[in-house]
Amino acid sequence: MKLSDPQTLIANDPHRFKVVIAGRRFGKTFLSIRQLCYHARIPNKEIFYITSSYRSAKMIVWKPLKRRLLDLRWAAKVNESELSITLKNGSTISLKGAENPDSLRGPSLSYCVIDEMAEVDPELWYEVIRPALADQQGGAMFIGTPKGKGNWSYDLFRQEEHLNDWKSWQFKTIDGGWVTEEEIAAARQELDARTYRQEFEASFETFEGVVAYNFSRELNIKTLAAPDLRTLHIGMDFNTSPVTAAVYVQQGKEMYQIDEVHMLNSNTAEMAQEISRRYPKSQIICYPDPAGQQRKTSASGATDFTILRNAGFEVRAPRAHNLVRDRINSYNARLCSSDGIRHLFIDAKCKYTIESLEKFCYKEGTQVPDKGQWDHMFDAASYCIDYLFPIKRDRDPNLIQPQRWGHALA
Ligand SMILES: Nc1ncnc2c1ncn2[C@@H]1O[C@H](COP(=O)(O)OP(=O)(O)O)[C@@H](O)[C@H]1O
Ligand SMILES: [Mg+2]
Repeated sequence: MKLSDPQTLIANDPHRFKVVIAGRRFGKTFLSIRQLCYHARIPNKEIFYITSSYRSAKMIVWKPLKRRLLDLRWAAKVNESELSITLKNGSTISLKGAENPDSLRGPSLSYCVIDEMAEVDPELWYEVIRPALADQQGGAMFIGTPKGKGNWSYDLFRQEEHLNDWKSWQFKTIDGGWVTEEEIAAARQELDARTYRQEFEASFETFEGVVAYNFSRELNIKTLAAPDLRTLHIGMDFNTSPVTAAVYVQQGKEMYQIDEVHMLNSNTAEMAQEISRRYPKSQIICYPDPAGQQRKTSASGATDFTILRNAGFEVRAPRAHNLVRDRINSYNARLCSSDGIRHLFIDAKCKYTIESLEKFCYKEGTQVPDKGQWDHMFDAASYCIDYLFPIKRDRDPNLIQPQRWGHALA
């Protein structure tokens, strides 16, 4: 059995941890079986193949794996009820389902394939498999189709950016060579554009429910060469953990987020100090959560707004919250307007903002933003944009103007 060129590239690569994102029918499972056998050629190895469930492990790989090992005359004992094969050299390959993590505990592992990893719980990797690989310095291959940027497989895919023993690949279905162009063209007609790109082009599509749906890493990340720091516009969200701020400079119609502040277990006073420390010479205009007008967080009884004003900042906020939906729309419209122009850019160093934009989602099937983890930086970033560039409802006579709308622009 010969591997295709991209399969060969992956198989021959020396990295300990490999992440393969590929389209349907690329040959992911085929490559998985090859890798299992390759690692089992060395005596006394303990090798796992893991996928979402025991049932699908059995359906997808049991027969071809067994056939392969029998053809090679390597198999010594086949255990049908446990889906494991012991080889003459003492190595064992076992198929496992991720739905039963306890069945995976125990042995020290030599190698492991996690197929369709988007369907597998990340804790299984971090808490069970990764530790089991430690004493033998075992390797792993993660393989599957992408499932949006909210899924942990996207984090794994990007692990190579900061960890030396990780390497990632991304291949389209057509690169595999097992599906004809005609078949792919037919699939393209049947599927919506996003599903097609995900399933056949292995693209990490922005999740259906992503709040900042117009954000594009390619098009909205930009560094301003020489930002004019005389006036800074700073969106801010008050919490204790995290306290967040998005620092912008305005250039004509364009807003550039040049910095971010993200502090755990902190407060408004510390935020004000941090901003003054970073930008001692700038005029600071804050666009905080309107709730800070009344909210008292300090022992002295000062409101968040008072604290900011006392720090020498100007504070701009509507008297009450605008509709969240409108704030989301105005932020997205700056990211990309309906005529395709982008007015909002984020510096690549604002990593937490970028991650928040990609991960902050609606609750499944709803228009309710899923608060908790990724909302804070989005809120900070969008309070400012919404204040400066509000969606003007009154231009559309079909829309009822809510009472809450209509704070005066400063
Ligand atoms: N190197 C190869 N040699 C021969 N057939 C292959 C090879 N790689 C994949 N195939 C075949 O292509 C088809 C798709 O492969 P599969 O591994 O099931 O894809 P995926 O898991 O990516 O959907 C299968 O019929 C498989 O047997
Ligand atoms: Mg497969």
